[in-house]
Amino acid sequence: MAIKQDLLDQLNERRKEALSGSVGADKIAARHAKGLMTARERVETLVDKGSFQEAGMHVNHDVRGFGFENRKLPGDGVITGLGNVDGRLVTVISQDFMVSGGSLGSKHAQKMDEAMTQARTLGTPVISINDSGGARIQEGVKSLAGYGKVFRNNVLSSGVVPQIALIAGPCAGGAAYSPALMDFCIQLRNNSNMFICGPEVIKAATGENAHPDQFATAAAHSTVSGNIHFVAEDDKHAIEIIQSLLSFLPSNNQELPPHQLSENLKLELDEAMNSVVPEDGKTPLDVYKVIERLVDKDQWLEVQKDFAKNMVVGFARIEGMVVGIVANQPSVKAGCIDIDASDKGARFISFCDAFNIPIVTLMDVPGFMPGLAQERGGIIRHGAKMLYAYASCTVPLVTVIMRKAYGGAYIAMASKDLGGDVVYAWPSAEIAVMGAEGAANIIYKKEIAAASDPKAKYKELVDDYREKFSNPYLAADYGFVTDVIMPSETRYKVALSLRSLMSKRVITSPKKHGLSPL
Ligand code: HXC
Repeated sequence: MAIKQDLLDQLNERRKEALSGSVGADKIAARHAKGLMTARERVETLVDKGSFQEAGMHVNHDVRGFGFENRKLPGDGVITGLGNVDGRLVTVISQDFMVSGGSLGSKHAQKMDEAMTQARTLGTPVISINDSGGARIQEGVKSLAGYGKVFRNNVLSSGVVPQIALIAGPCAGGAAYSPALMDFCIQLRNNSNMFICGPEVIKAATGENAHPDQFATAAAHSTVSGNIHFVAEDDKHAIEIIQSLLSFLPSNNQELPPHQLSENLKLELDEAMNSVVPEDGKTPLDVYKVIERLVDKDQWLEVQKDFAKNMVVGFARIEGMVVGIVANQPSVKAGCIDIDASDKGARFISFCDAFNIPIVTLMDVPGFMPGLAQERGGIIRHGAKMLYAYASCTVPLVTVIMRKAYGGAYIAMASKDLGGDVVYAWPSAEIAVMGAEGAANIIYKKEIAAASDPKAKYKELVDDYREKFSNPYLAADYGFVTDVIMPSETRYKVALSLRSLMSKRVITSPKKHGLSPL
């Protein structure tokens, strides 16, 4: 006895309706004309062919009234399920703007809740594609409650499974807080906006004329607010960024990241690294040149590249080992750590620590950024986030002091006393409380004033101070430096240290949670 044909036909019909989002070809064509994929095309492009296992395709809306009695909202405007990316299982959530603007109703939220709860049980990264008009107005408080569930899931999953958000359309009001609670946000350069209050609300509340380009687009968020980590030219590019990001991450906090370790390390010198430090002490070093020589070929994914450029962070492999790189960039603001750089660095460090990714720190830092705006803006509190993030790390920390290592900023950049496991210094390292010029002005103030030629005396004292402190040997003598190494030895020494530190285990005191200086 075979199943009745009309039952099969009915299922096929329902599937067809759900897969099309109940919209006509004209709507899909209009979307394509804008350069956008549909919600389902995004899922299909992200996951390995044939691997998607959808959950809740037949879910419908729960709107009462508003003429919705005879309306169907396929999947309630969101596609959820499991799929493989490069053979590894991930949880996918893709909001469907073509179904009632992807607005979040109670069933939509229920699907997201179930997908995210399951992600924690299975230990799968969550990829959430946001394309929604926000809380479904017709469902009122039910949709607000739905957002509450989503936010709580984001928090419960934080540090358990990696969470990646794609802002692929409107993302307004409280809805922006789900991406903000996730680990990485990617935003489409065109056709997408993210804000709490839109231009009309801003105008009504403050009288300001604000254009979305100033505060809501990928360009604004990647450079000014720092709310996003990557800008994508289009959906395809966004999905490539997600795939590349996943290639560096473990699926959950119980796993190691996907190292690709070779059996034998290549212990070769890289003579060209000796030339990256400019001979003239006043010419800034370009840290990208160091990173390029330090990491494996084509194994570098920079995070937040256009925000706080004085601090460079990103994922890489060194002799196959996945690492997070945290580096001062002396060619921007002299590499000083300011408020934005602190926030950027601290967040990245905390992510690496949560997901077992060792950190390699490249130090060339003259200090925390001086200035009234910085002090009034809370550089004490923001800078403390860097200290907190590094000091609470249990992952391996390997530090290379390339040039300047001054004052509190030296301590902050994974110095030995903050928790650095291995601290290398190049012969060009200057480890001191501050630069020679500033130090001489303070400690030799009276001698300089009393001298017959104050300028000559000042120069003599600066040179004297520099000779004493502006080198790595005093710090090495005190034991604050593991070893002074040639720049040419850096790659293999760092690779060797990383391998030796793989078995690092730290047992910390039990506590409910610490209090990062937010
Ligand atoms: C119900 C919505 C909707 C919403 C859009 N739609 N947003 N339905 N609730 N929030 C529906 C429209 O009615 C329309 O339905 C379809 O989606 C497409 O919308 P359009 O306006 O035609 O599209 P477009 O011109 O592209 O404009 C998109 C938009 C606009 C910019 C997103 O729709 C808009 O401003 N929506 C409201 C955004 C908003 O203020 N949301 C609330 C945010 S507050 P039909 O049936 O015609 O296809 C919030 C609180 C969260 O989210 C709180 C968390 C704590």
